[in-house]
Amino acid sequence: MKSKFSRPSEITITKRNTTTLKNLAGLGVKITSDNGGAVAGSQIIILAVKPYQVTEVINSFKSELTARHILVSVVTGVLIKDLETSVGKKIPVFRAMPNTAIAIQESMTCLSFSNAAATQISFITKLFSTLGKVAVINENLMDAATVLGACGTAYAMRYIRANIQGGIEIGFDAATASLIAAQTVKGAAELLLENGSHPEQEIDKVTTPKGCTIAGLNEMEHRGFSSSLIKGISTSYNKIIKG
Ligand SMILES: NC(=O)c1ccc[n+]([C@@H]2O[C@H](COP(=O)([O-])OP(=O)(O)OC[C@H]3O[C@@H](n4cnc5c(N)ncnc54)[C@H](OP(=O)(O)O)[C@@H]3O)[C@@H](O)[C@H]2O)c1
Repeated sequence: MKSKFSRPSEITITKRNTTTLKNLAGLGVKITSDNGGAVAGSQIIILAVKPYQVTEVINSFKSELTARHILVSVVTGVLIKDLETSVGKKIPVFRAMPNTAIAIQESMTCLSFSNAAATQISFITKLFSTLGKVAVINENLMDAATVLGACGTAYAMRYIRANIQGGIEIGFDAATASLIAAQTVKGAAELLLENGSHPEQEIDKVTTPKGCTIAGLNEMEHRGFSSSLIKGISTSYNKIIKG
């Protein structure tokens, strides 16, 4: 709605308890608990429920599915082939793995799909592109995408929190340290996205020989900085794939 990709009247949101959606109803979005009715009047269905709710929710609308429908699931860990089995009809099925920055149109969303035509792939890619950046990936990388893209938000928050704590130790109040830490990380990420550069190229620009940056960076590495992040990422990944 913010990006004008869709008008409020084109969107229907369903949940069992609709009282929490009153503000959206006020903006003109259709609100209902009737999944079947919502699907009957729609073309693109975004399934955003907990994994254990998927079968029940698909069963509540599958009799309404026709050849015009496209199913997009953001549900973690439910495979396209399992969604296809639950649906029981040959319709395009997408899996999307966004992250919580979708709330401010800054998500990193990984997409995979099955049985989709080029125009459908382009439409769903555009939809998520209005909500951040999109990478189309093979479905067998979806667990890895969950770790790097969705858990990655939490990792970045811990990195920023550590900067805030360090910033307070060297003299800033918490609010100023938070602002400096968050904006510095945002700017660093934007440099990579806009310049298409490698992190080490950007590091070279701020490391003076015998200077304070390289001294601090090397101390972080001696204490296992990169190694601890890589081990954390592989631990999250192993937890997803082994359960
Ligand atoms: N949070 C993330 O960063 C993230 C990222 C990527 C993917 N995901 C995935 O996104 C999915 C949703 O996550 P979430 O954190 O948003 O979960 P959530 O807050 O529990 O949202 C699930 C929603 O489904 C509704 N619902 C449950 N049963 C329903 C039914 N029978 N009919 C209609 N609506 C129903 C619930 O509302 P009622 O109880 O009122 O019905 C609730 O609003 C999960 O599978 C998660 O793995 C999350």
